[in-house]
Amino acid sequence: MPNTIVIGAQWGDEGKGKIIDTLSERYNVIIRYQGGCNAGHTVIIGDKKYILHSIPSGILRQGVLNIIGNNVVIDPLKFLKEINDLRNVGLEVSPENLRISDKCHLTLSYLNKLDEATGKKVETTGRGIGPTYTDKTKRIGIRTFDLLDLKRLEGKVRENTESTNYMLKYCNATVLNVDEVMEGLSEASEGIIPFIHPNIGSLILGYDGSLLYEGAQGTLLDIDHGTYPYVTSSNPTIGGAFTGTGVYVNLENRIGILKAYTTRVGNGPFPTEQDNEIGERLRKMGGEFGATTGRPRRCGWLDLFIAKYSIIINGFNQIALTKLDVLDQEDTIKLCIKYELNGREVRFEDFTINRIEEYTPVYKELPGWKKNISEARKIGYLPENARKYIGFIEDYLGSKLQ
Ligand code: IMP
Repeated sequence: MPNTIVIGAQWGDEGKGKIIDTLSERYNVIIRYQGGCNAGHTVIIGDKKYILHSIPSGILRQGVLNIIGNNVVIDPLKFLKEINDLRNVGLEVSPENLRISDKCHLTLSYLNKLDEATGKKVETTGRGIGPTYTDKTKRIGIRTFDLLDLKRLEGKVRENTESTNYMLKYCNATVLNVDEVMEGLSEASEGIIPFIHPNIGSLILGYDGSLLYEGAQGTLLDIDHGTYPYVTSSNPTIGGAFTGTGVYVNLENRIGILKAYTTRVGNGPFPTEQDNEIGERLRKMGGEFGATTGRPRRCGWLDLFIAKYSIIINGFNQIALTKLDVLDQEDTIKLCIKYELNGREVRFEDFTINRIEEYTPVYKELPGWKKNISEARKIGYLPENARKYIGFIEDYLGSKLQ
């Protein structure tokens, strides 16, 4: 099997989990390289529904090594809970099948508090993600490595709690003391230390087999290439896979996951949004509620211009289309094929994500198929109009859909 990376081509929640689950049968190493417990990947085990947040989905299969790279941020208390929950449903979670970089930054409770106090504009997931990456770039972050020496960690926690308290006071939020922040950390560190690995890069390079990289969130939430500032704080895009693990590997399969319509959670520009009964229907049909926060997702038509932008950023050589059946009830289906600014077409060369709010989407309208296609397992079983919808996307993107 060639090395593979799976990345969301929109604003996250494209259905990456399902594709990764299917692919993971064929890989023995699965790697997370960015984000943290802002991600949510729903899995059904027997009659139990379980949501993975930080641990790669290979943990559900025997014989798979799951690696968490340096640019993933870890909330130690939530992480330990995730491990224990998996163990409680009978799954093995040990250093045999899970390894974490010693350079992962930790989300401690003052960072959760800070996110709650400052994340409203972006409507973050409230999991402390932004403040954790902020501390990382401020060079005051606390890392998995620090769990190995709790005494020294406490000194750092004291400094950071005190400085964060200034900000919390400014935001009229309740402040924390060091003891509160340290609560549970000793137990969490004991639980996490066995998984910490000093050199994730060499672990990856030393593996004689194919690798599956699992992107979280999506291209338009990328801190550099997304709809800044309404983005997450890491790089879900392809470059993030290398900085987020410390090594370059040749990723022969670069799979973009494209949902047949668009969703986004939280604030920020969304040109094809349907804040009306169409959007409501898509939300209901697609079960579009956040796996991490339960928030209803904003819904709208597929934006092919944005899909093209994602393809270029990530060098996708395969596109997987998901959730086509959510469009089953639509009489007509729209696709954004270009943007206009002051009545003039925005050429792709002139497009800037910074102006996305000023652009007006221009749509192609196609007839719906008005049939339940949820059981169709092959393209040939789809109604003609569904095949036409797929054909239109393929022609536009110049890529065969999987
Ligand atoms: P944060 O990552 O919690 O800081 O949130 C920043 C933005 O990214 C918010 O708009 C979130 O709703 C969005 N976001 C973060 N993680 C996900 C995800 O897994 N799916 C969809 N949106 C996400």
